[in-house]
Amino acid sequence: MCGIVAYIGQRQAYPVILKGLKRLEYRGYDSAGVALLNHGLKLYKKKGKVAELEESVVGKDLQGQIGIGHTRWATHGEPSDRNAHPHLSANGKFAMIHNGIIENYAQLKQELLNKGYKFHSDTDTEVLLNFIEDIQVNNQVGLEEAVRIALKRVVGAYVIVLLDKDHPDTLIAARKGSPLVIGIGKGEHFLASDASPIIEYTKEVVYVNDYEIAIIKADELILKNLGNEKQTPFIQKLDLELAAIEKGGFDHFMLKEIFEQPLTTYDCLRGRLDATFGTITMGGVQNHIEQLKNANRIIIVACGTSWHAGLVAEYVIEELCRIPVEVEYASEFRYRNPVIHKGDVIIAISQSGETADTLVAIEKAKEQGAVIFGIVNVVGSSIARISNAGAYTHAGPEIGVASTKAFTAQLVVLALVALKIAIEKGTITRDRYQHLLNELNDVPEKVKLVLGQADHVRETALKYKDAKDFLYLGRGYNFPVALEGALKLKEISYIHAEGYPAAEMKHGPIALVDETLPVVFVATKDSYHQKIVSNIQEIKARKGKVIALITEGDETLTGLADDVLIVPEADEIIAPIISVVPLQLISYYIGVAKGLDVDKPRNLAKSVTVE
Ligand code: G6P
Repeated sequence: MCGIVAYIGQRQAYPVILKGLKRLEYRGYDSAGVALLNHGLKLYKKKGKVAELEESVVGKDLQGQIGIGHTRWATHGEPSDRNAHPHLSANGKFAMIHNGIIENYAQLKQELLNKGYKFHSDTDTEVLLNFIEDIQVNNQVGLEEAVRIALKRVVGAYVIVLLDKDHPDTLIAARKGSPLVIGIGKGEHFLASDASPIIEYTKEVVYVNDYEIAIIKADELILKNLGNEKQTPFIQKLDLELAAIEKGGFDHFMLKEIFEQPLTTYDCLRGRLDATFGTITMGGVQNHIEQLKNANRIIIVACGTSWHAGLVAEYVIEELCRIPVEVEYASEFRYRNPVIHKGDVIIAISQSGETADTLVAIEKAKEQGAVIFGIVNVVGSSIARISNAGAYTHAGPEIGVASTKAFTAQLVVLALVALKIAIEKGTITRDRYQHLLNELNDVPEKVKLVLGQADHVRETALKYKDAKDFLYLGRGYNFPVALEGALKLKEISYIHAEGYPAAEMKHGPIALVDETLPVVFVATKDSYHQKIVSNIQEIKARKGKVIALITEGDETLTGLADDVLIVPEADEIIAPIISVVPLQLISYYIGVAKGLDVDKPRNLAKSVTVE
């Protein structure tokens, strides 16, 4: 969470930083701020979104060819002007932005209070900054050295970037745990939390590693470790186009990303699946096939929507590969003392590749000898880099805070991985394998058909937009789809929604049912279909309103459901990739009808880089 941008070079820094902050707003939007250096330090910050900062600085002095900017997702201290970044050190010499959490800030703060420091915010960032200042003043060293000494005492995660009033030709940055990309231009450098603020200026980037300090001038980049030894920057070429991070005519990124799914699922299959020859080509799986097919157990760790993808995979892998699977919330897994044996495989699923809990969970499992297989969307991200093997989801940048296209891409990759393991292991017949390959091949086309009914989904959704609660029910492969539908509605429309296994509903949620409660049943044709029809009867008998997601041609529910949404027929293993799409649309349309900011729902952030 929190987005950071910085610039040094020949351009005016403010427009570069402002545009960058807008691109990074998905990471947090509680407040925003910039600091510019030009004959002195100028600091502007504002509670709220970047647009509010922009308005508030009209007519102010925004000159400067070096500057830092920040968009915040609050951790320490409420969203407010005074807690907004950048922060200024006590003597007014240094300005700093920070993404992450300084865990031992209370102890450091006490030490500084004892020395007479006063604080103007509630943030851990201001503590770290004054801690750096204190070291700089007492040891009479340069800022770079002060940062190095300070970071040796810091517990936690951070990316920090500092401006020094007396050295207007240098930015100092450092990273541990949170992401930092440096774009290398001609006589200029761009710093950001991800590549999106950088791509229109340069495609050459360096991903800074943990425990590295960067000393950046307009025409020079020096990387050092905390031991003050120079590191060789590894320059990579960005494979990202500007169009991919713009709205392309859609009202919202979320809608654009929902409608991209025929393409993203196709991109995910491209070069991997050859249905005609019955082959799956995945280097990451092939190179570790012995470990994967002989795994004693697969543990899937993830958070949020990615965790739901993991739940679908649990059903798929157990069915096809006959390997026991456990799906864990990364945040729980990392703090337990999980039993991990050699021969266990951990699959980490993450859109951003930066989710702090997932990252730490796999670091721990790796130390204990597990093989880590990463399923990640953002190329070059931390989880991708520490995994032993993996597969990218190739969904392109996902900017809407609620995950949509990344989820369906995760399901496609997981299905491919499961099928590849199953065929190598011999736990699937050739016929079933070929059938499922054909089914996967048809996914992009079927998703397109679902999107063709978006207007009908909208009309249906709007009938229920004033409901206070929703229930989402499904069985088997459709149970995680119900969970994901409920999560989407909560995130985007702020309506309370619960996802539940349809049969388990009798043990609690059924008490909520009355004529005001919409119940969304994910009731596509599968092995549980008869059972779910009975569950629908149970809801109708209690006057609940039923919105049933059914397979084309299924007449069973005619006259029973209040509303139906139809999806094309698909094998039950593949169906979740298609069935989730109308549920994404329901939440989008209700959110928009309520006048909410669907791309940036309150309190959420896309990339949760704090625990
Ligand atoms: C945040 C996002 C969710 C996402 C979750 C996990 O909560 O708002 O959309 O599913 O993090 O993120 P990851 O990047 O690890 O998939």
